[in-house]
Amino acid sequence: MSSERNVLKYRGKVFRGDREKLNGHRSAVFWFTGLSGSGKSTIAHEVEKKLFDLSMRAYVFDGDNVRHGLCGDLSFSPAARTENIRRIAEVSKLFTENGTICMCAFISPLKKYRQMAREIIGKMDFYEIYITCPLEVCERRDVKGYYKLAREGKIKNYTGISASYETPEAPDLVIDTDKETLEESVGRVKEFILGKISF
Ligand SMILES: Nc1ncnc2c1ncn2[C@@H]1O[C@H](COP(=O)(O)OP(=O)(O)OP(=O)(O)O)[C@@H](O)[C@H]1O
Ligand SMILES: [Mg+2]
Repeated sequence: MSSERNVLKYRGKVFRGDREKLNGHRSAVFWFTGLSGSGKSTIAHEVEKKLFDLSMRAYVFDGDNVRHGLCGDLSFSPAARTENIRRIAEVSKLFTENGTICMCAFISPLKKYRQMAREIIGKMDFYEIYITCPLEVCERRDVKGYYKLAREGKIKNYTGISASYETPEAPDLVIDTDKETLEESVGRVKEFILGKISF
């Protein structure tokens, strides 16, 4: 396809390894998946702050934030959800080239979405973190008030209520936010990430 469009790649002079060396750590993508309200954003942003305080380059791609800009043109149809994940995976791949530790916090409810992200990013750079929490607890938390609206039928295709969530089969890390305190969850994710990105 690239050759039909006459699109070539320009090879620069600064490479990923150079940037990683400058940063003092490797880069990779940590893909958080789980129900709405399970704790993806809360944990990812706490970990981002901890890594920043350690002088590390980390960045959170958050589902809520990218839908305002990069993916502001996308709906929640199946095709648009796929495109949403594809764009995030491509952007986080670029950030990985830039030496950044990426944390992507998206419900990403279907295996095919996570599989696509893994394929785009490359399996060597992709770690799946499953943030699990029983639906009843997520619903009780109802951080955004969307579960109530979904139960009332005011939001269609809501994951856990009227759209399915496919449990990851072989996640690299599982965090159960109904059984752990936030501090414990944050600490475990941080240690996991440090274990993967340290030289
Ligand atoms: N161990 C824990 N880890 C993370 N969050 C927790 C934990 N225990 C309780 N919580 C609470 O659960 C809620 C999680 O909300 P959060 O917005 O992080 O979910 P989310 O997975 O990002 O949802 P969404 O997919 O809708 O963006 C917060 O109110 C948080 O304080
Ligand atoms: Mg969130």
